Parts: sequence; C-alpha cells; structure tokens
Amino acid sequence: MINFIVDREKCTQCKICVSECPILIINGKTAYPEIIEGKEENCLKCQHCMAVCPEGAISILGKDPENSIPTSSPIPEPEKLENLLQIRRSIRRFESTEIDKDLIYRMIQMASYAPTAKNENSVQFTVIDNREEMSKLSQLTYDCIKKAHAENKIPTSKLYLNKFLKVWKEKQINIIFRNAPHMLITSAPKNGTFPVVDSTIATAYFELLANSYGIGTLWIGFAKFVFEDIVPEIKTKIGIPENHEIAAVLLFGNPAVKFARSIQNDNPKIKTVMNRLRSSIFQQDAPSRPFPAVFQASE
Ligand SMILES: Cc1cc2nc3c(=O)[nH]c(=O)nc-3n(C[C@H](O)[C@H](O)[C@H](O)COP(=O)(O)O)c2cc1C
Repeated sequence: MINFIVDREKCTQCKICVSECPILIINGKTAYPEIIEGKEENCLKCQHCMAVCPEGAISILGKDPENSIPTSSPIPEPEKLENLLQIRRSIRRFESTEIDKDLIYRMIQMASYAPTAKNENSVQFTVIDNREEMSKLSQLTYDCIKKAHAENKIPTSKLYLNKFLKVWKEKQINIIFRNAPHMLITSAPKNGTFPVVDSTIATAYFELLANSYGIGTLWIGFAKFVFEDIVPEIKTKIGIPENHEIAAVLLFGNPAVKFARSIQNDNPKIKTVMNRLRSSIFQQDAPSRPFPAVFQASE
C-alpha cells in the first residue's frame, strides 16, 4: 500500500503531480489525481508527487508534506561548493579523537538522500563509530591476511598485502586502516540494478558532507579487496549480508594533517558529443567555444 492521499481542500487540480510521476501512474483525467487502478505496485516510491505539489496537498507512504524541508531552504553557493570539491584531500593521518556519534548518524542519514537506480534504496551503511572496534577490526584483518598468506590463498596480484602485514608487524604502521577512528562501508544486494554505483554515490555524498564539517576521509580500495576476496569471513562478522557487494570503504576522522592549498588538476578529458553529432548530422561546424580549454580527444 502506497497510501496516496490527496487533500481536496488544498488541491488546485493543477495536475503537476500527473506530469511529474516518472512512471505515469497518476490519473490526470479524474477531477482530483488518483493512482490508476492496478498500477499501485509500479510506484517507485520516489515521493515526487508529494515533493512537487505547490500546495502540499499530497501525502504518500504515510509522509506528511509538512515534514519536508522547503526547496527555498538555503543551499551552498556554487563558489563554496567548488571550493569544497577542490580543497578535499585524501587524509592518511588521523587524530585519535572520535567524531560525535550523533553527527556520524546524521551524516549517514543525509547520505541516504543520494539517488539510487529505480529508487531501490537498498544501500546498507555499515559503520564503525568508535576507535576500539576499529582497532579490533584492524587486528582481525591482519590476522586473517597472515592466515591467508600461510595457506597460500593470496592471489599474485594482491601479494602487496604481505608487505602491509610486514610493516604492521615490524613497525606498527597501519597502511590499510591508517589508524583512523572510524570507517564506513557501503554495500547493496548483488542482484540489484546498480549496487556498486548506488553505494558509491552514497559514499561520495557522505564524504563531501564530512569534509564540509572538517572531517578527513580516505577511500580504501585495499580494504574492499581484503573484505571481498581475501577474508570474506570478516564481511559476515561485521554484518554485511553475503548477497551484498561491497562498493566502497571510507575511513574518516579528525585529520592530523592540515593542507595549505588545493592541488591543481590537469584538464579533464571532455568530449563534446553534441558538437560531433551536429557536425555529422547537420553537416555544419560546431560553434567555437572560448571555454573550457580542454583536452579534445582525437577524432
Ligand atoms: C576507489 C578508490 C580507492 C582508493 N584506495 C586507496 C587505498 O586503498 N589507500 C590509499 O591510501 N588511498 C586510496 N585512495 C585514495 C587515492 O589514492 C586518492 O584519491 C588520489 O591519490 C587523489 O588524491 P586526493 O584524494 O587527495 O585528491 C583511493 C581512492 C579511490 C577513489
């Protein structure tokens, strides 16, 4: 039951909800909008009908439109967001202090607003919210790598893990987990539409929000290999369902290093496909553009 309710006192019959529904299951021919008979189960549960209604006349899935934030709420100016994108750096040295748990869960809540294919919303956020668990997990991981090494279970392409183990044993340098106090793992059911993409987008949302709070982050591909390929028993131990694919592992905590400036990226590889289509379809030259001075892929 999607519980699509129209408040007839508020509805002006503008039918914007009908046009906005991505799968066209709202009837525009009736006086007031209603779900076309038999189509309810196709609903994506995206809540666009409720979000788009100018009058706040629609409720769905038991959500009261009054509890949404208005789209007139302040958002960061583009310049500030651009600064954040340029200033964010991978952090590999963390302070031992923990991040406030309420803030961690709030950031996860916000990251869950990331889009997902078919609005499946099946990303699981597995979080380590305290240092103690992090150091237990770290130790367990190295123990498992040691065991896998002894049993010759580490594939040649991942033999660098033995070096990490050696540095950990001999120098207590933790190349995989960097002594970070926290970790976020995103995963989603393998049989979903885009499990890795959905989880990765959510992780990127989390990362940017964390950085806006001054929290440092590090994506750790190594850990994904370890959890998925070398020691899958850890995956089970930390509560990730077996049918889930791990997409991203992100360390986070207060940074122990402060960067003074941004890096300077080389120009991105951009292909202006529209220009190519225009010139091939309409046989005319693409308009010249003063910006960006980008790498142009060779024809
Ligand atoms: C998917 C992914 C996996 C990564 N894995 C690791 C890792 O295992 N260890 C590490 O130190 N850095 C890792 N990084 C960080 C990259 O090395 C880093 O993003 C890159 O050098 C650019 O630096 P910046 O993030 O400061 O711009 C990873 C980054 C991404 C996106």
